[in-house]
Amino acid sequence: MQKFSFSRIEEGQIGIGVDFGTSNSSVAIFDGKELRCLTIEEGDHALKLIPTAIYISKDLLPTIGLSGIEQYLQDNRNRQIKLKQESVGAFDMTLGFGGDGDAQTITVQANAWTDQNIPGRLFRGIKSWLGNSDVDRVKIFNKSFNITALITPILLKLKETYSPFAESKIDIHVGRPVNFVGDSQESNRQAISRLTDSCRFAEIKNPIFCEEPVAAAMSFLHTHSVEVDSKYLVFDFGGGTLDLTVLSITQNGFSVLATGGIGLGGNMIDCMIYKKMIFPEIGLGVKVSRNANAKQEKTDFRFSDYAERLIDWQNAYQLNTPRLRNQINVGMKEGGEAEIKLKRLRGIIVDNLSYEILRAIESAKIELSNQTETIISVPGIDLEVPFTRQDFDEILKAPLKDIDTLLSDVLSKANVSKDELTGVVCTGGSSEIPAIRNHLEALLHIPIIRHDAFTGIAAGLAIANYYGYDSSST
Ligand SMILES: Nc1ncnc2c1ncn2[C@@H]1O[C@H](COP(=O)(O)OP(=O)(O)OP(=O)(O)O)[C@@H](O)[C@H]1O
Ligand SMILES: [Mg+2]
Repeated sequence: MQKFSFSRIEEGQIGIGVDFGTSNSSVAIFDGKELRCLTIEEGDHALKLIPTAIYISKDLLPTIGLSGIEQYLQDNRNRQIKLKQESVGAFDMTLGFGGDGDAQTITVQANAWTDQNIPGRLFRGIKSWLGNSDVDRVKIFNKSFNITALITPILLKLKETYSPFAESKIDIHVGRPVNFVGDSQESNRQAISRLTDSCRFAEIKNPIFCEEPVAAAMSFLHTHSVEVDSKYLVFDFGGGTLDLTVLSITQNGFSVLATGGIGLGGNMIDCMIYKKMIFPEIGLGVKVSRNANAKQEKTDFRFSDYAERLIDWQNAYQLNTPRLRNQINVGMKEGGEAEIKLKRLRGIIVDNLSYEILRAIESAKIELSNQTETIISVPGIDLEVPFTRQDFDEILKAPLKDIDTLLSDVLSKANVSKDELTGVVCTGGSSEIPAIRNHLEALLHIPIIRHDAFTGIAAGLAIANYYGYDSSST
């Protein structure tokens, strides 16, 4: 159990908090009285919340935030992808045929399909890669970058935003999920080490990492009056992770009774919507003819050759190979539904629209938070898919099970029963989904308090920084 009291440890310094989120990032400051979320200037924009995005152009210049996304869309609009086969070198391959002495070593020329005209690469959701040891370096235009290098320009911008207020301050609070995506001690260790490196490159010299739901608790307590001994559950549901904490309110502060988290967030939900609502409209389940034993028979179009890469939009351009395009063209000859659906698939691949599909899905999902039905619309490929709350409820069934499991784990770790809770503090963009809040209400029968969905974490980090909260020493 971590105990914390809101009493000032060091005088005269301002509190600074940086929320480097999977989807959005923000910065806040706190001087003991006023809590301010700072305006971040990037390109032509001045925003309290910037998308956590970086676009690297062909001349290796980074553009971050909303400007980066706009640049990517502008550069890619109406661009047809042309993949060329390029030699990536030669390597030796040994073939063995069973018996002694049968092995033979041959030199193989390896080729890879590369997008020749690619004007730049956009990266989003990089925070979710931090705990993944399989993702270490990213190749961008024949140069290999460590993923920390993709984060540094974003952190630099956040630092530039708070620097005028920081005086000589070097220790600032930076948010972290309870568990990074990957969900093991090793992923957490690796993610923190990479984030520390990126901070150092951005000259954020001494980041103090603070669990995001604990930061949310601090900004909640700053703006709400609560009773001593009451207990709250903080539910921070963002783009990459779901983070929970159970708090007990003390005379001057609070105790953290338990924290917990899983790699479930809005991005994963968007992918689930893609699979359930869009896949059947772009080729999943389409029947095509094939010749077998001198007879024509109907078989399923091999959608699985495309499915994974479509969702991994950052690499979807790699689907543009002659074999995969040809497979679609052959399928389209079927006519009817098959032709309509596979033409859309061809459009996504040839015009590199995977990111735009995910944006259309995300907008429709957000619309469903305020209305009961909407349309997922991608005009470029003649796609208009009705999407209702009922469809969404169906998709949310599996995530809700994971949420329930995490919830009961955290409550039991805190040794607190549902009945002892006074309220649930909901924050993070994904907690705006009505079905999520309704589910929590039905399960816990206590008030759901919506708290500053997007900037509550940065605000809480600034407060934590001001009061010198350090979870490792409490
Ligand atoms: N009104 C809304 N209804 C449903 N989902 C929403 C809404 N607004 C935003 N979202 C989703 O919330 C997510 C972003 O939330 P948030 O900014 O809290 O995440 P983050 O802090 O960047 O991520 P994390 O904390 O996991 O690192 C996105 O997946 C977005 O689609
Ligand atoms: Mg967040």
